[in-house]
Amino acid sequence: MKKAVYPGSFDPVTLGHLDIIQRAASMFDELIVAVLNNNSKSPLFSVQERVNMLFEVTKDIPNVKVVSFSGLLVDFVEEIDAHIVVRGLRAITDFEYELQMSQTNRLLNSKVDTVFLNTNLKYSYLSSSMVREVAAFGGEITKFVPETIVSKVYDKYGVHKEIDDEQ
Ligand code: PNS
Repeated sequence: MKKAVYPGSFDPVTLGHLDIIQRAASMFDELIVAVLNNNSKSPLFSVQERVNMLFEVTKDIPNVKVVSFSGLLVDFVEEIDAHIVVRGLRAITDFEYELQMSQTNRLLNSKVDTVFLNTNLKYSYLSSSMVREVAAFGGEITKFVPETIVSKVYDKYGVHKEIDDEQ
């Protein structure tokens, strides 16, 4: 059984993340979406909120599981008896950081390999930090995050917005 781990901060989950999840889920028997529980990063959403949001947007994909992890990714991967990590690559700007991370992970545990999926071009500009910034100033985020997530992000910033389904 081929099990892969898709780790990230997912603060919040974007349509780009969801696209990677859908594609990775079709490649592996089981995909574990692993949300980093890192207190030092002071995220917008708590780890439980991020897990719940991911759970909601992936509930129709039967081989996807959502969990949180803390500590080193390679330790978590080994703990659940997996050895493949999936990461999305948006642009060349991601490459250096991603390569550094995957090399570090392999040095820490040579059994762990990273597989990169190029992001759908539609979402190649998209990041959670950009979503947070746009939402904080009351900008439109309906094209960036799954429908059920939109109001949750605005709520964090106390932004009251009519959500236009036509957007
Ligand atoms: O969505 P992100 O913030 O780019 O995800 C980064 C993540 C969570 C994959 C990375 O920070 C991570 O794996 N953190 C756990 C700590 C760790 O293992 N660090 C060593 C690898 S650089």
